[in-house]
Formats: sequence, C-alpha cells, structure tokens
Amino acid sequence: MRSIDELVLPEMPIESAEMAADPMPHILAARREHPWLAKCSFGYVVHEYQAIKDILYMDDKVVNSTDDVVEIMGAKGTRWGRFMQDLMIGQSGATHARLRGSVAAVFTPRNANLHRQRMREEVSRLLDEWAPKGAFDFAEFAAHFPVRVMFGLIGASPEHISAVRTSLEAQGMSYCLDPSMLPDMEAAYDQLYGFIDGLIAERRRIGELDQDHLLDVMIAAADRSEISELEMREMLIVFFAAGYDTSKNMLTLIAWRMLQHPQEWTRCADDRPYCSLVVEEVMRLHSPSNTYRTVTEAFDYRGVHIPKDTLLFFTLSHAGRDPEAFADADEFRPERQHRTRHMGFGRGAHICIGQYLARAQIEEGLHLTAQRITRPRLAGEVTWRTFLGSWGIVSLPVSFQAGARREAAHDVATV
Ligand code: HEM
Repeated sequence: MRSIDELVLPEMPIESAEMAADPMPHILAARREHPWLAKCSFGYVVHEYQAIKDILYMDDKVVNSTDDVVEIMGAKGTRWGRFMQDLMIGQSGATHARLRGSVAAVFTPRNANLHRQRMREEVSRLLDEWAPKGAFDFAEFAAHFPVRVMFGLIGASPEHISAVRTSLEAQGMSYCLDPSMLPDMEAAYDQLYGFIDGLIAERRRIGELDQDHLLDVMIAAADRSEISELEMREMLIVFFAAGYDTSKNMLTLIAWRMLQHPQEWTRCADDRPYCSLVVEEVMRLHSPSNTYRTVTEAFDYRGVHIPKDTLLFFTLSHAGRDPEAFADADEFRPERQHRTRHMGFGRGAHICIGQYLARAQIEEGLHLTAQRITRPRLAGEVTWRTFLGSWGIVSLPVSFQAGARREAAHDVATV
C-alpha cells in the first residue's frame, strides 16, 4: 500500500485557460499515466468514472467543506461566511438527512412534471422577447431562463428578476477565492435573503398550503420545527443559486454542441421526447458541475492510502467520456443505452436534489428554443469559464432565423 503523496502522478492544469477551453486532451494525457489519479496545484484529481463513483459514495469519509473558502475569503464571522459553512452540500449524517428530508417530497419526478406547463409558458414568453433579435449571445439568453422558471414555480413577481439575477451572478463567484469580492458576496446574500424573507411572509399571509408547492412544504417543515426559520431561508437561496448557474451553463453547452448537429437540432423542435435523449447525451459528454471533497477519515482505495485532510477534485463534467463506462464514449449518440448513467448530477448522498426539475426545464427549454431559434450558426468567439467550480461557456455568439411560435404541444412527461 502506498500513500497518495508517494505516487508519481501526472499534473493536471485545472486552473489553466487551455484546460477550460478544451479539457479532454488534458484528461486523456493524465489517463495515459495513471488510470484514475492526477495531481493539481491544491490536491489531487480523480478522473476515472468508477473511481469518482466509488469515492463519492464514501459519505462517511469525505465532505464537501467550504471552511477553506471562507478562511481564504476572510469571511469567518460574516453572514455570508456562516451561510457558506451551513450549506446543505457541506453537511453530513443526520443534519444532512434532516435538511434534505424536509424538502425531498417537492423534488420528485412527479412534481417536476407538474410544473412543465408553467415552464413552457415562461420559456415561450422569454423567446417572444429574444427570438426576433436574429442574433444574440446564447449564454446571456440562457441566463434569464432558470430564474424565470424558478420565479414562476414559487409564484414571485417578475419585478424582482433583475436584482435577483445580479445577486445570483455574484453568488456564482463564491469559489473565486478573491477576498476583494467579499463585500459583493455579503451584498448578494443580503439581497437574496430579503427577497426570500418577503416571499415567505407573503405566502404565510395568504395562508393556503399546497403540498406540491416548494415554499409551502418548507413553511410547513419550519412550522413543525424540522428546520429553523434561518435554514428555510438559506435553503431557498441555495435552490435559486444551485439551479441558476448549472441550468444556464447546461443549456448553453447543449446549444454549443448542437451547432455541430443541425439535423438533430431541427428534430428537437419537432420531437419533444427526443429532447430528453439529447439532454442526457450532452450531459454525458460534458456537464457543468465539477466538485471536490476533503477527506475527513483516511481510507485505502485500489492500493492507494488517502490520508485525512487530502483534497480530492472530481472531473464529473467529463466522467462520461471514460471508455470503460460507455462504448464509443466520444461520440454523440442520443439513442444509446444507459444514457442516464452519466455523472452530471453527481452521486451518493449529495446527488443533485433538483435533477428532475433541471431535466424538465432544460428539456422544455431545448424543445421550444429549437422551434424559435432555427438554423443557428456560430457568430463569434466562444469563451470559457474556469474548469473549477461551475464550468461552461461564458459567451456563445450565435445568429439564426427566428421561427414562429407554435401551438402548445401535448404534455409529455418522461423524467
Ligand atoms: C443542469 C442543472 C444542474 C446540474 C448540472 C446540477 C449538478 C449538481 C451536482 C453535480 C450536484 C452534486 C455536487 C456534489 O456532490 O458535490 C448537485 C447538488 C445539488 N443541487 Fe444541482 N444541478 C443542477 C440543477 C439544480 C437545480 C435546478 C436545483 C434546485 C432547484 C439544484 C439543487 C442542488 C442542491 C440543493 C444540491 C445539494 C444536494 C445535497 O447536498 O444533498 N440543482 N447538483
């Protein structure tokens, strides 16, 4: 048994612009030297599908801790610092089970399907504004999309959308490790907290509880003292933030990939169930969320000893490109078998709680966008976000022909 720090491992430049713009050559180079491990500037990278899966299931030995982030940002004792340290993703055992259990009933496939009609309405309204432009930055368009859907789902007034979006952009920089950003983080937290506080007060004033409504389920859990008033508000901030960056990045990654597949894009406009296959296949090829864990209890894995406090980074975004996990892993084949086995939503106790909601909104979004944004072409340079944290496209300039708004299709529920 050798300790991880005694191994001769390839270096993976996960902070570099080259890796952000084209991660696969770096992952392939690392794979040639070690089947599942590489080194990076702050720890180790786990890049093999099976190893990622196995270690993410070790919830009793690894934790997604934000302590270092809060320390580096000088945020200890601040409201934002406390919020970051209390995030559900950073909790384990009974605390995590309690928080997750308090809302699990709202995040079922059934519940996601209940919201599809509203999602279609929100996306259609957005496309009415954007499709006549003939050209735009797709990433900017996609940024409006999850907030609109989330506002629709919780019945919030659209007048707050722009302030909330700005705060979510700031929250999206939570892992930037730049202490000068702390005042922006605090301001964003305060803005989101105040907005959510107002929503809860209004919902309580109305007083009719609906067991499928996210706010109502959380209010009921708080009234039963399963979660505190602070936890309820902070979890709602998390739902906004966790669904914002990821969904906008995913939709933009799908649009970018589909520029190479014009026939399939056209099919997405006509065939809603096909959109589900495309979403899963693009998530397998590349998805936005890489993640990391700090080891809290030393363990041995495949002949390697991994000591306490080791930092492990997981290339979830490209795990589906492992040829041991998927045949013809680099090919775009939406009709392949086992397409939902990708790692885009993680694994283990922290697997994305919003995955069915995300799938529903991205599928509906793809279907309607393909109808209204026809013959899309790349119209400028694609720029990339850093591979750390939430990876994806910063800017995707496209030009296109505006398609007509079609009659609403029949409900199709597949998640
Ligand atoms: C395409 C869109 C999305 C992607 C790619 C995505 C990805 C992920 C991933 C990979 C994780 C696990 C992270 C880890 O284990 O470290 C996660 C967790 C989580 N996601 Fe998502 N997500 C998406 C949308 C959403 C939405 C729409 C919501 C809420 C409305 C949401 C809420 C959460 C929460 C709360 C967690 C933490 C769960 C826990 O700790 O138990 N996500 N997500």
